[in-house]
Amino acid sequence: MHLVPPLRLLYFRQKLLRWHERENKRQMPWKGEKDVYKIWLSEIILQQTRVEQGRDYYLKFITQFPKIQQLAKAPLERVYKLWEGLGYYNRCKNLHHTAQTVVREMGGKFPDTYEGLLGLKGVGPYTAAAIASFAYNLPHAVVDGNVYRLLSRFFGIAEPTDSKQGQALFHTLAQDCLHPQKAALYNQAIMDLGATVCKPDLPQCNICPLRRKCIAYEQDLVSELPYRTKQIQKRDRWFVFFSLHHNGQMAVRKREGKDIWHHLYELPHYEAGSQKDWELFVKKEYKSWISSHYGRSHSLLSFSAAYRQPLTHQHIHAVFIQLNLKQPLPHLRKNWQWVNPAARSRLAFPKIINQFLDTKEMMNKPADR
Ligand code: ADE
Repeated sequence: MHLVPPLRLLYFRQKLLRWHERENKRQMPWKGEKDVYKIWLSEIILQQTRVEQGRDYYLKFITQFPKIQQLAKAPLERVYKLWEGLGYYNRCKNLHHTAQTVVREMGGKFPDTYEGLLGLKGVGPYTAAAIASFAYNLPHAVVDGNVYRLLSRFFGIAEPTDSKQGQALFHTLAQDCLHPQKAALYNQAIMDLGATVCKPDLPQCNICPLRRKCIAYEQDLVSELPYRTKQIQKRDRWFVFFSLHHNGQMAVRKREGKDIWHHLYELPHYEAGSQKDWELFVKKEYKSWISSHYGRSHSLLSFSAAYRQPLTHQHIHAVFIQLNLKQPLPHLRKNWQWVNPAARSRLAFPKIINQFLDTKEMMNKPADR
């Protein structure tokens, strides 16, 4: 059963496709790509980041691994390094795992059905629909934040996009709107119109091809839609990282466990329970903490300003303290890897740590003295 009158659907599809053909100026290196490996790669990267940033990652990956066999063969560590900065490192692990599955179990050929694609690790309904349509023109509509926004505004639907019921409704509507013979063009068009014209803030209704029949525009509801019941609550976390040096080497460790930055390298750190604790630690408690953890024979090289990194569900706050250890205690020799600063080009670190290591605040590098 269709949710909207056929004439309205027809208008929507035609205007969207015509805009895509004549006016859509968005250039992306994967646009029109037919190699399913490259399409998959671009979609996995775009699960993680915006097009502007994703472009460079995509080009790096296809330059280093033009064929899926090369990605499957590469050591995981090298793939993490290329992924560095994108976050959600489990996705990177899944990417590598799927490349290996496709090479070993499928003779290097991706599945050519929606259901087959959905069976791959790291591929959910959105990505399966994107790959199925772009690679094989199969009639599966993509539904992501762009699509919720565009459909809820055009059709004037206030059903919450974060409820089960709302999501089911938008999925049905999206599938109804899809042009069944032009799935690849249609999906690209709706993504691009959502990202460049029907934007979350400052939508450009004056140049929108759908404006004449857009209910939100007509009824002045553009800023009210799409509707969500809950706002995403972000958790704040408060870190003090120690950049420890000894004989020109730096202490690093690979993160394990279920927390953020899984599989990335990190510096020794203290995590405070609240902003107040963090401020107290940075003001005075750090001295006794340093003595008890790193010994008394050290010199304090620098104390950074506060750094911040917003993640999807957390806000990270960090200060970096740089120390030169004359004699690292035995536990530091045992539990931490001591690497030359040059090892950074091989090892993947969280973005906030890289930002610090890249700045002038890494002055007085003991290695340079
Ligand atoms: N987001 C996810 N996939 C995309 C694509 N193919 N083009 C633009 N944005 C996207």
